[in-house]
Amino acid sequence: MAPISALIGSTEDSARQILDAIESQFQLSDDALVRITDQFLKDFRLGLSEYNHPMAMIPTFVTGVPNGSETGTFLALDLGGTNLRVCEVQLKGNHQFTLRQQKYRVSEALKTGEATALFDYLADSVDAFLTEFPSSPNSAPPDPFATGSSALDLLDTSDSSPAVPLGLTFSFPVEQTALNRGKVLTWTKGFSAKNAIGHDVVQLLQDAFDRKHLHVRCVALVNDTVGALLSRAYTAGGCILGSIFGTGTNGAYVEKVENITKLGDSPARKHGGDMVVNTEWGAFNNTRTTLPTTPYDNKLDRESINPRLQAFEKFISGMYLGEITRNIILSLIDAAPYPILFNGRASALLNKHYGLDTAVMSEIEQAWENGRDQPSSNDKLVNGSHAISNASAAHPHPSLSTPTRHFTEVDKLSPEDRSRLERIRNIVIQRFALDAADVTLRDAAIVHWTSCLVANRAAKLSGCAIAAVLVQTEKAKLGGGFVPKDEKITIGVDGSLIEHYPNFNARLRASVRTLVGEEVEARLNIGLAKDGSGVGAALCALQATKQGL
Ligand code: BGC
Repeated sequence: MAPISALIGSTEDSARQILDAIESQFQLSDDALVRITDQFLKDFRLGLSEYNHPMAMIPTFVTGVPNGSETGTFLALDLGGTNLRVCEVQLKGNHQFTLRQQKYRVSEALKTGEATALFDYLADSVDAFLTEFPSSPNSAPPDPFATGSSALDLLDTSDSSPAVPLGLTFSFPVEQTALNRGKVLTWTKGFSAKNAIGHDVVQLLQDAFDRKHLHVRCVALVNDTVGALLSRAYTAGGCILGSIFGTGTNGAYVEKVENITKLGDSPARKHGGDMVVNTEWGAFNNTRTTLPTTPYDNKLDRESINPRLQAFEKFISGMYLGEITRNIILSLIDAAPYPILFNGRASALLNKHYGLDTAVMSEIEQAWENGRDQPSSNDKLVNGSHAISNASAAHPHPSLSTPTRHFTEVDKLSPEDRSRLERIRNIVIQRFALDAADVTLRDAAIVHWTSCLVANRAAKLSGCAIAAVLVQTEKAKLGGGFVPKDEKITIGVDGSLIEHYPNFNARLRASVRTLVGEEVEARLNIGLAKDGSGVGAALCALQATKQGL
C-alpha cells in the first residue's frame, strides 16, 4: 500500500493548495467590483424611494454645507466609535476651529445594558467635562454665536439663562425626522443597549440631562459621516461626501432633494435644493448575494451579536478585519493533514473571539513597509492640510500590483526582506502570545500575506462605495470615460483604517480608478476630516439654533 503522504501529496503541496484556495476566495476581479458598484447604485435608488430598506438612505434635514465662515462655540457629544468624546468646539469663521476634548470609556456593560444607564453615563460625562475643564479666563461673554466665547460660560444655571446648546453625534442608524429628532433603527458595532430601538435619541439624551439637572439642551443630531462631510466642507470650502472607515463604515453625501422621492410631498421635498443623505452603507447587501463571502466571513457573521446585519461593514471595518484574519489563521493552524502555521499550536489569545485586533494587522503591514527600498509616500497624510495624497494613481505601489506571495522560500530572500520578516515574526510572537519556537519566518510571511489579503479586499470594497457615490452624484460614470467639470472632487474621511492602516487609501484609490477611470480618480481630493464628529455636531448645532430649534 502506498504511504499516506504519497496519496495526499507532500506537506508543501497540500499547504500550497490550501493557501491558493484561500487566496482565490479573497480575490476581487474588476468585473466583480463593477457588479458590486452597480448593485450599490440600485440599492441607493431603492433606499431613496422607499423606507425600511437595509441601505436606509436617511434624509438628514441638513440642507446645505458650510463654507468656512461660520462662527460660534458649542458643546458636542460623540458616541459611536471606540470612545465616547465630549468636546467644546469653537468655530473661528476662517475655515479654522479649535477644540478641547475629553474621551471617556464606554464599558461593555453600558453598551449592552439598559439604554437609560448608557444615556445617564453620557450626561455624567458632559457634566464631568464641564466641571473638569474650566473655560479660559479670556473667554468672551456668553453668546453662543460669538467667536471667543466658551460653552462653559453659558453654564449659568439660573432658570432665565439659555441652556448650553449641544450637538450630538450619534453614529448608528437613526431615522431622522428633523435636525433634532430621530428614532434609533438598530444598534451596530457591538452595542445592543435595551429599550433604545424605536426611541427618539435626542429625547433619550435630553431626559438624562434633565434627570441630572444639567442646563444643557441637545439641539441637533448628526451621524459621524455627516460630521465628516460638514467639517471637511468647513475647512476645505466644499465637500460632496463624508465617509468613515474606522470601527464601522458608512458614507453621507449631498443629494438633490427631488431624488429623495420617499419624502413624498413633505415641506422638505417641496422646498427642493440639496439635502445630505446618510446612506448607512454598512448594511449594503445583507443578503450577501453580491458580496464575495467566504467561510471566514460566514463564521464571523454567525458568531456576531447581529447576524445577517451590517454585511458590508463586516467585510470592511476595523471592528471585524482582525476577526476575519483570526479565522483564517485558525484554519491554517488546524489544517489537515498537516498544520500550516505555528506547528499546529494556537494561544489563548488566538482562540479568543475578537482576540486579534485590526491594529495588529496594521502593525504587521507597517513592519513590512518600513524596510522597503522606496518608502511609499502615496499613502501618507500630507502636512497640516490633512489632504490624503492622490499620487497613487501615477505610481502604483508594488504591494498593490504584485500580490504578496504566500509561499515564501525564506532561503532565497534578500537580507532586507529577511530582516523585515524577522520583525514581523517578533510582532507575531508578542501580539499572538505564541511560543517563539513555534513561529518560523515562513509563518511570519503567511501571516503577513493573510493580513494583506483581508485588508486589500476591504479597501477594494470601500472603493466600490465611493465610486457609487461619484456615479450617483453625476461626478463619474461607471466604466470611466467621463470627465467632471469640477477641478477637484472633495471628500472628507475619518477613521482608524483610512488614517493609519498602511496602504488602505492607496488600495481604495486603485479600486476607484478601476471603476470610474483615472481622470476622475486623479481629481479626488480625499482629506482627513479630523475631529469631524465634534466639528460637524457644532455646525449642526449652529444651524439648529439659527432655525430656533
Ligand atoms: C453605523 C453608522 C456609522 C458608521 C461609522 C456604522 O456601524 O451604522 O451610522 O456612521 O458605523 O461609525
